[in-house]
Amino acid sequence: MGLKRIRVTTKHSPPSSSSSKILLPLALLLITPLVLFVVPPISHLREPFFLIEDHRFHGDLREAHFAWNKLCFGPTFEKLKLAVFSKTWPVDATPGGMEHHASTLFNALAAKGHEVHVFTVPSDRHPHHDIQEGNLHVHFTPNNHGSLNCSLAFEIFNKESFISPFDYVHTESVSLPHWRTKAVPNVAVTWHGVWYEIIHSKLFQELLSDPNSAITAGSDTDLREALPRLVDEIRFFASYTQHICISNSASEVLVNIYQLPSRNVHVILNGVDHTKFDHNPSLGLQFRQQHGVPPNATIVMGVAGRLVRDKGHPLLHKAFSSITKRHPGVHLLVAGSGPWEKRYAELGSNVKVLGALDPSQLVKFYNALDIFVNPTLRPQGLDLTLIEAMQCGKPVLTPNFPSITGTVVVSEEIGYTFSPNVGSFVEACEMVIRDGHKRLHEKGMACKSYAMSMFTATKMTSAYERFFLCMKNSKYCSYPLHTDC
Ligand SMILES: *[C@@H]1O[C@H](CO)[C@@H](O)[C@H](O)[C@H]1NC(C)=O
Ligand SMILES: *[C@@H]1O[C@H](CO)[C@@H](O)[C@H](O)[C@H]1NC(C)=O
Repeated sequence: MGLKRIRVTTKHSPPSSSSSKILLPLALLLITPLVLFVVPPISHLREPFFLIEDHRFHGDLREAHFAWNKLCFGPTFEKLKLAVFSKTWPVDATPGGMEHHASTLFNALAAKGHEVHVFTVPSDRHPHHDIQEGNLHVHFTPNNHGSLNCSLAFEIFNKESFISPFDYVHTESVSLPHWRTKAVPNVAVTWHGVWYEIIHSKLFQELLSDPNSAITAGSDTDLREALPRLVDEIRFFASYTQHICISNSASEVLVNIYQLPSRNVHVILNGVDHTKFDHNPSLGLQFRQQHGVPPNATIVMGVAGRLVRDKGHPLLHKAFSSITKRHPGVHLLVAGSGPWEKRYAELGSNVKVLGALDPSQLVKFYNALDIFVNPTLRPQGLDLTLIEAMQCGKPVLTPNFPSITGTVVVSEEIGYTFSPNVGSFVEACEMVIRDGHKRLHEKGMACKSYAMSMFTATKMTSAYERFFLCMKNSKYCSYPLHTDC
């Protein structure tokens, strides 16, 4: 695919003459502040992430410092019995990121023949019957308020493990609270956002809020309240045995800041169903016509998700109102609903507010775009919309958070990043417009192949399958096995 690499050379020839003896420290002096500014503090994984030739990786998977998705795992014949704790389980159409992850993953593992027991509650908080589909058993164990009753879940868990013991237990974030993990040593947790990253996002929200307005950021963005949460989290994270991160930068934080042993910290990236989200220009054209995008539009940008402040809509709103004045041919499609809907509608005929779209409409929406914009101010985890857009062959424009630059927009060939402020955002938009339709299409095709190599549901599933096998029996931790591709 020929991704461009940004490489910082660490080797330099020893100074041989007196002039270079003076020049070298001088050069270092000049370079040092530059390096400090250019390299974000926790994104130094960027280098190894690029340089490791993963298809030639040999060794113990637990020592892999990159996403397991990069590897190609062959078929397995051993069947596992797994227990899963998830705060909710999707019963309606629009699940959030975390429950989407759980349902995609464990439906797929059950389909591969593993016996999966999920302890959870229905996402709509209404009473539902338990689900039993093939090897998938979903036990709804709500308390009076509709959230997970862990005591009740453990009653069923214990009954099940009495019949035959579970090979491994998985929890989506703190669905299984840390004080319960003493009873379950074989537990792996997938973190969908940690407090270190939350503080990062609160910082940006604080910086963007108006310091003169009394009601600006609101109590939820108080940084001082966040710090004790971080300290608390660092203390209790060690109660979980194995940790799975959904971005490279989060794994760095867990090793360097939370001080967890790197052998217990793994990266498995989220995946989406690439058969549902695929490149299809005619669907896109149809969608443009249906929503009255004029044929002479020069660039069509799109944004999807809940239209709320912390998803960066104040930023996009400001940036686009400035862009549309200079570039009347640039259009914006807004998929989603929320408080910012009305403000977008006021921006004029170049903005189309489409409301919330179901998955079949969403595919058409992505295909209608020249570029997908994700202005989120939350540098947590991996936004599924970014991955869906890339699977549809669209380049992305998104803030330069470590979780994004280290894992998703790993190269200029894939998209554009900006600092989360209006000036930087507008500058990035100008670059997108300058590059134009044809260049965006090329980048979109690079996105498609990168997404196919990393972010498919099948890759995610086989990585988790191998992970659980490796945790049960260390012979599965070596890579490659003769069955691997
Ligand atoms: C949770 O389940 C336990 C065991 O079935 C039950 O005794 C308890 O009352 C439940 N708690 C709530 C808040 O519903
Ligand atoms: C696109 O076409 C419309 C209608 O013909 C016209 O009013 C508008 O100025 C054109 N826009 C651009 C950017 O050329």
